Amino acid sequence: MITAMRPVIVAANWKMHTTPADAGELARTIARRTADADVVRIVCPPFVALAAVRDALADAAPPIAVGAQNVHHELHGAFTGEVSAPMLAGLATWVIVGHSERRRDAGETDMLVGRKIGRAVEAGLRPILCVGEQHNERDAGLAEAVVDAQVRGALGTHDAAVLEAGGLVVAYEPVWAIGTGHTARGADASDMADGIRRTVADLGWADGGAGLPILYGGSVTSANIAEFLAEPAIDGALVGGASLQPDEMAGIVARAAMTARARLDPIATG
Ligand code: 13P
Repeated sequence: MITAMRPVIVAANWKMHTTPADAGELARTIARRTADADVVRIVCPPFVALAAVRDALADAAPPIAVGAQNVHHELHGAFTGEVSAPMLAGLATWVIVGHSERRRDAGETDMLVGRKIGRAVEAGLRPILCVGEQHNERDAGLAEAVVDAQVRGALGTHDAAVLEAGGLVVAYEPVWAIGTGHTARGADASDMADGIRRTVADLGWADGGAGLPILYGGSVTSANIAEFLAEPAIDGALVGGASLQPDEMAGIVARAAMTARARLDPIATG
């Protein structure tokens, strides 16, 4: 498989942590501790801290992007407490869509997730689509079928070329691995990534989906990231709990940078 053209990405999902008062400082510390131009870094704070993080990272070199954790599927209207894609203009350039915690707690369906992706791409936000199976589904041998259905359900109504141009990224996050300290095996995550690329190829993506970046998420730490980045099919990580700890982020991004350089110049880096 050709991986050279895909970037290596580390995205921090801060979930419901930090406040506008402390998020900027944490973002600045992480930016400084992970400064590496070969890795695409994204910090996704809560909505209310987006402006603080944007301001804190405005002068970061190399640049580090800001992402939202969710977006509404309508542009505006009577949707109390919601945030639409156009509202994120100037605050974020990425957005996480379809996280399993939102599927679980907010009842988000694949169809709704698909509409969110459409809004994100229209607004110029790069979506990170989260998919992943439950433990009982993996035990039953259904992991690939479940994720295939999630990807089809979210992306099937969209034009593949528009999603590709919009910079879609998929995060494979097995639900049983999130916040549990249990991780998938690297080889299993790689198999799932291969399956996701087969699905998008079937949906019309160019080159068998070879251009689609796929991240692994679920209890990623500096101690286990190497197992995932050793897999050519995996292009980085969506990090939850460990992303609030600058030491952890420093270790994760340092390992990601090794992979990025190996992909850029496989001969020099062996
Ligand atoms: P943890 O890294 O805390 O398991 O969370 C993963 C996740 O849900 C990232 O979106």
